[in-house]
Order: sequence, then C-alpha cells, then structure tokens
Amino acid sequence: MINLKGRLEKVASMAGRCSKPADIGTDHAYLPIYLVQSGMCPMAIATDIKKGPLRKAEKNIIKYHMQDKIELRLGDGLIPVKDDGCDVIIIAGMGGVLIRDIIEKSVDTAKNAKFIVMQPMYAEEALREFLFRNGFNITEESLAKHEGKIYPVIKAAYDGISREEENFHLHIGRRLFEQRDPLLKEFLKKRIKRQERIVQGMAKSARMKESYAKENGLLTDMKKAYDQIAW
Ligand SMILES: C[S@@+](CC[C@H](N)C(=O)[O-])C[C@H]1O[C@@H](n2cnc3c(N)ncnc32)[C@H](O)[C@@H]1O
Repeated sequence: MINLKGRLEKVASMAGRCSKPADIGTDHAYLPIYLVQSGMCPMAIATDIKKGPLRKAEKNIIKYHMQDKIELRLGDGLIPVKDDGCDVIIIAGMGGVLIRDIIEKSVDTAKNAKFIVMQPMYAEEALREFLFRNGFNITEESLAKHEGKIYPVIKAAYDGISREEENFHLHIGRRLFEQRDPLLKEFLKKRIKRQERIVQGMAKSARMKESYAKENGLLTDMKKAYDQIAW
C-alpha cells in the first residue's frame, strides 16, 4: 500500500469518496494510486503535460498493479479529460497562477465537475480571486504541513454566483478561520514574516507608494488576525 504524507494525504482526504477523479499534473501518480488503493474511488484518470512524468507515473502504476484502474493521458490541463464526466478534478503541486490558467482555459469542464481540489504551492490569492469572480464557491479549505512548509488545500464547486472577497481573505482563506484550522496560527506567523520582507523592500521606493500602502495594510490585517486566533 502506498503511503502518503502531509500535503498529498490532505489533498486525498479533501477529494474523499468519488467515482472518477482526474489528477491533473500527476507526475509520480502517487495520488491516484492512493485513492484507488484505499478504496476511495474505483478508478482514476491521471494526466500530465510532459512525457517524462507520465513515464514515471506508468512505472508506479505497474509497481502497484493498477494498470486496469488508472488511465494515463498526455496533455495540457483539463483538455485530456474534456468530455469524460470526471466528478472530481484535482490540481496539486503547481503555482496558483498556473492552476488558475488551467481552469480558465477549460472552464466548462471545471464547471461540470462536482468539485475541484486545488493545492497551490504559492500565489493562492490569484487563484481564490479567479474562483470567486467566476462563480466558483470555496466550500472547504485546510492547511497541510510538509517538510516544514505549510500549504493551503482548497475545495471549490461551481454555483454560478460571482463573489467579491476582501484582499486579506484572498491571501488567507476565510474558511480556515471558520473551520478553526489547527495550523492557521503557525501559517499566519510564516506569512507575516514574508509580508514584512515584502513591505520592507517597498518602503524605500517612492515609485511603489500605492503598492506599499496595500501591502502594508495586508501586513496589519495579518498581525491583527494572528493576535485574535485563540485556538
Ligand atoms: C510539481 S509536480 C506536482 C505533482 C503532483 N501533482 C503533486 O502534487 O505532488 C507538477 C506537475 O504538473 C505538470 N504540469 C505542469 N503544467 C501542466 C499543465 N498545464 N497540464 C498538465 N500538467 C502540467 C508537470 O509536468 C509536473 O509533472
């Protein structure tokens, strides 16, 4: 049995029981192998834009005897699963902007899924903003720790309602507060440190006056939120 830890384990648990998940940018295929092996789904589709990662995925699929349960496809984003009726789409381990672009390019496929599980490595604010503006509701969020780093895992479903979200919650997901995520305080501490560096870098530049005010405001909000977390 394949053993998933931290980040990918959290992604799998947010996908939950499903019938035909698609893992986009699968690389090693650990995630679909785990989903099938643990009985969370009967079969899965795994895609990648590059042949090298797909060869790696194929080796692992053979190693775990999953050839008749996991189908591999080469292609860009959601294009290889366009008319497949996948109930769950998983896009993990990429930047938030790339995940956003993948969804935007094939938005109808994304809309038709029961939900999408996304795990951005960075720039999650760009992804959240796109989701809210384009009628995807973030129904659940959770933090996962892996090798000292903390990553958000975002679950969203299309309901057609366009939303505006405040800048602070584009950066630090609202659901993390509502769900009292146990890693939130630690995550905020790390984000505050990073934001301090951004603000310090901007402080000396007159050209960046407007951006400075925005980034400094975000830093203030992060510090306030940090002080208010009582769990
Ligand atoms: C860092 S790996 C993440 C692998 C795995 N999903 C994880 O979370 O551990 C990113 C993978 O996404 C693939 N990828 C990048 N852009 C892609 C795209 N537009 N469509 C499909 N796969 C893509 C890369 O080739 C790479 O194998």
